[in-house]
Amino acid sequence: MDAAPARPSTVPHAVRPLRALVTVGPTHEPIDEVRYLGNRSSGRMGMAIAESLAAEGCSVTVLAGPGVTATGGLTTERFVTTADLGRLLDRHWPTHDLLVMAAAVADYRPSRAASGKMRREDGPVTLSLEPTPDLLAGLAARTGPGRFIVGFALERPDELEASARRKLARKGVDAIVANPIDTMDADDVEATLFLRDGSVRSPGPGRLPKRAFARWLARTVVPMAADRPAARA
Ligand code: CTP
Repeated sequence: MDAAPARPSTVPHAVRPLRALVTVGPTHEPIDEVRYLGNRSSGRMGMAIAESLAAEGCSVTVLAGPGVTATGGLTTERFVTTADLGRLLDRHWPTHDLLVMAAAVADYRPSRAASGKMRREDGPVTLSLEPTPDLLAGLAARTGPGRFIVGFALERPDELEASARRKLARKGVDAIVANPIDTMDADDVEATLFLRDGSVRSPGPGRLPKRAFARWLARTVVPMAADRPAARA
């Protein structure tokens, strides 16, 4: 494992700033008009990554989920559901070079949302859930080799590496940031970057504040993305 600290990136061939698209925070999937299925993602890691990419000289677009505190000065669009995020990705990805998919996208959503408000007096309710489309895999399948895609994976520590490697291959992305499950909503992370060529990078052993990890990640992936043909076009 390469534990060397990343140096500030230099982007030798760049003719314009690298355009980075970062998805941040949870999705909310409606159950009825007042309730939803969500998750505990705070969006702090994703926003820290967006800020670090801007500090590395990228022009950054943020797609932020509900409840995420967006950073002033960064172009930000909002999504609520997985379907909203899918539409925003379809609109914005064609004009970007680097995608960092930090959003905690729902894996399941109610098959249909009830209209109005479901009433307790109507008795017990069974929710029928359907899997959401895998946005990241779909996007990667429609993207040529010229651009760079980073996905995230939240895993049980005992199966982190094997599962991250499976996800890297299954989703067809360039890199996966794998986090143990307890990272969600925490201040610190112990994340590892698995790359398509089989190599593994980490900022060093132990836990790091999310901001420090975000800086390391931006300095690690910006030179890789800048080396791709789309970034030099
Ligand atoms: N992701 C996505 N669309 C989904 C679910 C997840 O694009 N419907 C993205 C996430 O943004 C993340 C990556 O896929 O970058 C991995 O998400 P994760 O939930 O860990 O993986 P899953 O494919 O959902 O696999 P599993 O839940 O079985 O571990």
